[in-house]
Amino acid sequence: MTLNIAIDGPSGAGKSTIAKYIAKTMNIAYLDTGAMYRGLAYYALQNGIQPDDRDKVVPFLETVDMDIKYSENGQKVIVNDLDVTPYIREHHISMAASTISKIHEVRLKMCALQRIIASKTDCVLDGRDIGSYVLPDANVKIYMDASPEVRAERRKKDLEGKGDFSHTFEEILADIKARDYQDMNRDFAPLKVADGAVVIDTSYMTIEEVANKVKEICKGK
Ligand code: DC
Repeated sequence: MTLNIAIDGPSGAGKSTIAKYIAKTMNIAYLDTGAMYRGLAYYALQNGIQPDDRDKVVPFLETVDMDIKYSENGQKVIVNDLDVTPYIREHHISMAASTISKIHEVRLKMCALQRIIASKTDCVLDGRDIGSYVLPDANVKIYMDASPEVRAERRKKDLEGKGDFSHTFEEILADIKARDYQDMNRDFAPLKVADGAVVIDTSYMTIEEVANKVKEICKGK
């Protein structure tokens, strides 16, 4: 049996920062499952397919081979031998990923790959449905949350850190709320608190405080 730590929650709750930290301190892998949906959304757009066009996305999926590789710079998402990692963090890809992820067949394909990786590798996975659907028997399940305003502020800082000053706080807040709504209200495997998950509200916690809390939860298991 491998060790699997599931961290779910909405965007900007701090999942990836904490997941990376836990992976490093416990010397296990980190699987960023959002990057897989982002990679697929980017690749679909590159091929002229809109993420909400189910009739085109489903047959297109059959032509897509996704692979996750690890390098010293972290996880790489490879789609049909193309490394799409450098392109998947752009602002417009966030909503495209959320939209394509509503398609049942897309989720089945991504979940199958996530389950294979988790069954072979000790890892911490972050996403939306890891504890509730992908790995309901994960050793540790955490749901990280924060207020939309705090998450929008964090997202704005992130984008600005990458030199993107083109979005106002209000715009980012509206995007975050729209994405939360879409991720929480899709028919299949929506974002929700998994049975048995520990909820952490990170709104007014430092990264160190959250990391300590997660370490404590892991130790108790
Ligand atoms: O975590 P992220 O912001 O990179 O994820 C982008 C989108 O991908 C998110 O809005 C919904 C989708 N997603 C999902 O449906 N299930 C996951 N396990 C991870 C991400």
